[in-house]
Amino acid sequence: AMTRYYTFNVTMKKVTRLCNTRAIPTVNGKFPGPKIVTREGDRVVVKVVNNVKHNVTIHWHGVRQLRTGWSDGPAYITQCPIQTGQSYVYNFTVTGQRGTLFWHAHVSWMRATLYGPIVILPKLGVPYPFPKPFKDVPIMFGEWFNVDPEAIIAQALQTGGGPNVSDAYTINGLPGPLYNCSSRDTFKLKVQPGKWYLLRLINAALNDELFFSIANHTLTIVDVDASYVKPFDTDVVLVTPGQTTNVLLHAKPDEGCQPATHLMLARPYATSRPGTYDNTTVAAVLEYSPSGQIKSRPLFRPTLPVFNDTSFAANYSAKHRSLASSEYPANVPRRIDRPFFFAVGLGTTPCPTHQGCNGPTNDTKFSASMNNVSFNMPTTALLKAHYDGNTAGVYTADFPAMPTQPFNYTGTPPNNTNVSNGTKVAVLPYNASVEVVLQDTSIQGAESHPLHLHGFDFFVVGQGVGNYNASMHPAGFNLLDPVQRNTVGVPAGGWVAIRFYADNPGVWFMHCHLEVHTSWGLKMAWVVNDGPLPDQKLMPPPSDLPKC
Ligand code: C2O
Repeated sequence: AMTRYYTFNVTMKKVTRLCNTRAIPTVNGKFPGPKIVTREGDRVVVKVVNNVKHNVTIHWHGVRQLRTGWSDGPAYITQCPIQTGQSYVYNFTVTGQRGTLFWHAHVSWMRATLYGPIVILPKLGVPYPFPKPFKDVPIMFGEWFNVDPEAIIAQALQTGGGPNVSDAYTINGLPGPLYNCSSRDTFKLKVQPGKWYLLRLINAALNDELFFSIANHTLTIVDVDASYVKPFDTDVVLVTPGQTTNVLLHAKPDEGCQPATHLMLARPYATSRPGTYDNTTVAAVLEYSPSGQIKSRPLFRPTLPVFNDTSFAANYSAKHRSLASSEYPANVPRRIDRPFFFAVGLGTTPCPTHQGCNGPTNDTKFSASMNNVSFNMPTTALLKAHYDGNTAGVYTADFPAMPTQPFNYTGTPPNNTNVSNGTKVAVLPYNASVEVVLQDTSIQGAESHPLHLHGFDFFVVGQGVGNYNASMHPAGFNLLDPVQRNTVGVPAGGWVAIRFYADNPGVWFMHCHLEVHTSWGLKMAWVVNDGPLPDQKLMPPPSDLPKC
């Protein structure tokens, strides 16, 4: 194993998209940001220097951070932000994961422009469990805003309404030819006939789950969230924010004489802001060599599922199975020490005052919650408070294991006023086996929630539509080869069940990866206590840990 050193200099950079030029926060002047390439078992050391006027932290999304929670990155959960002019060194080892993850800023909406791929190659000498690709290509989905996203969310939180949507979706930072004034900003993937390509799909968009398809090409899914899966073929991939999907693309062997251009398209599956739906589409180009000198290439366009195609989403996610082989076993908890049931959803709460509140209905504002708790961000880092044993006034250990109030499932958004605010955590003993049933409360609504857990890869052992029915527990669950991931789509009007061992001491954020829902409070944290042995304890904090 080796150590990989990087320096991330966070600086403003002028970028033009859709004929609109804006100075945006970038890493090293690059948008999207630089790629981290590592191998399973390697150590990664990244010095982050903040040279912008906003606070910054960087999160290594999906990296397990075994005992190194100080390097996880969510602001006010595991660290105070890196302030202007300060720096912080993230230092972690990549353990038991291979595939694709990504890094992104984890404070406010800064991840709108601060994100980049993390490529985790297998250990030296260990082959992929699929044909060796000729080339490896990150495909990052994002969103472009013509105005500062920080201003958009600040205004929405002030008025209680829904924030403005972005102006374009992007592939590798580029909106593509279907937007006005954008045809030069198109990502182009040039392929050679007959070769295999590994596309590393990453959804770094703030607020949209996306369908993705390439005209005339079937894709083979081989890895999600840096865990291998039993390969399966699909024409369309669904990637929620926070998820990554590795697909094999076999370039057609017979395209040598009549090379064509095949569009790759991505468009939202559902809406994250009630009443708004952005139907625009990002396009990129798959082009066969030989390039140049060809007069007219035929152009093909794929077909994507329709908006809110929940049955596509359910069937697609049910196809995912872990390898569960002797090399890559699935260590699924069978006996559960700590069962949880989380009601997850949007709602409204009364406005505290009448100061310009223009939420979904009169005198209300949007809020989002889990088990009737809308999470208040603390002003100091939870992990430090936990480590110091100094939690009074920072958090309370009473996050409910079940909803505390019944939800009214009718209406869009649900008329759910039984929400209280608090900084509540759920405490787990070291190595407890945990099950969480995540129930969407919007039975008649349309929103689904990509729930992301820091610090763990969990198994998705069950899913269903409507209200969770305890009588199918656990007979209908897959405990043999469930997919392992760090982000799962809680289906609109349905539920999923996840299981994991709490084998990573620290404080771990869990939240919807639709940034607007997180802003509205759809987040909570787990505290996992140290185990008795020395290698079961959280490491001490680094000396350069930022202060609040
Ligand atoms: Cu990708 Cu808490 O984040």
